[in-house]
Amino acid sequence: MKILQISDLHLAPGNQDMHGVNPSDRLTQCVEDIRQNHADAELCVITGDLAHKGEIGAYEILREILADLPLPYHLLVGNHDDRKKLLSVFPNTAVDPNGFIQSVVDLEIGRLIFIDTVEIGEKFGGFCAQRAEWLETQLKDSAGRPVYLFLHHPPFDVGIPYMDGMRMLRGEDLLAEIVAPFANIRHMFLGHLHRPIAGSWNGIPFSVFRGTAHQVALRMVETAHLVRSHEPPAYGVILIEPNATIVHFHDFLDDSAFVAQADIDRHH
Ligand SMILES: [Fe+2]
Repeated sequence: MKILQISDLHLAPGNQDMHGVNPSDRLTQCVEDIRQNHADAELCVITGDLAHKGEIGAYEILREILADLPLPYHLLVGNHDDRKKLLSVFPNTAVDPNGFIQSVVDLEIGRLIFIDTVEIGEKFGGFCAQRAEWLETQLKDSAGRPVYLFLHHPPFDVGIPYMDGMRMLRGEDLLAEIVAPFANIRHMFLGHLHRPIAGSWNGIPFSVFRGTAHQVALRMVETAHLVRSHEPPAYGVILIEPNATIVHFHDFLDDSAFVAQADIDRHH
């Protein structure tokens, strides 16, 4: 089964540029690549920072661009998003009983759980007792079937001090405690970092992709400001099988693929 992950779109109203790139053009190119190459995916998960400043106009652009996506999509919130404004433009977005934008999708291969890590007014992320109770219920209800978690903020440091200062800083121990008893959690898909990163946290494998607009530079020293970069944008192509999770980091603007002349000659 194939699913896709897009992250950190940072759209602005009026198709404004952001940090030297145009986020809506980039997302349009991303959707076009999906249409050409991965229209057979089951679902596309968009892991937060949909809008740069949470404006309604940005969510309207998002709705317009996603209308061309040839598969169902699922939206998560990031620290740059505004839950109310997002819901006003996407009223069908699933919300839990406490108003958090988190939900579950059961697929043949297992259960996808989308977690809301936003702390209103903060860049860093959080996880609280209400969210913990909800997540625990969803994990228990999974009844041992494979579970895949999706959340915007990483609950751990990645060695980039500026980003580590705005990771999930509230409730990460609570999250660790809630997930610990569940050996059926197969993978954690994150956003926020605007970088290709993979590894594991408390034994759970995780992956992060670049955003579709600007990126974060690999600066493993203290910096006064966030150092951004224009590394290529990417999205994730994820293959899930009962015994394997395969994560491809797809630089969708790269057009350098080629077949060697020697290979062509050999076949003629
Ligand atoms: Fe972001």
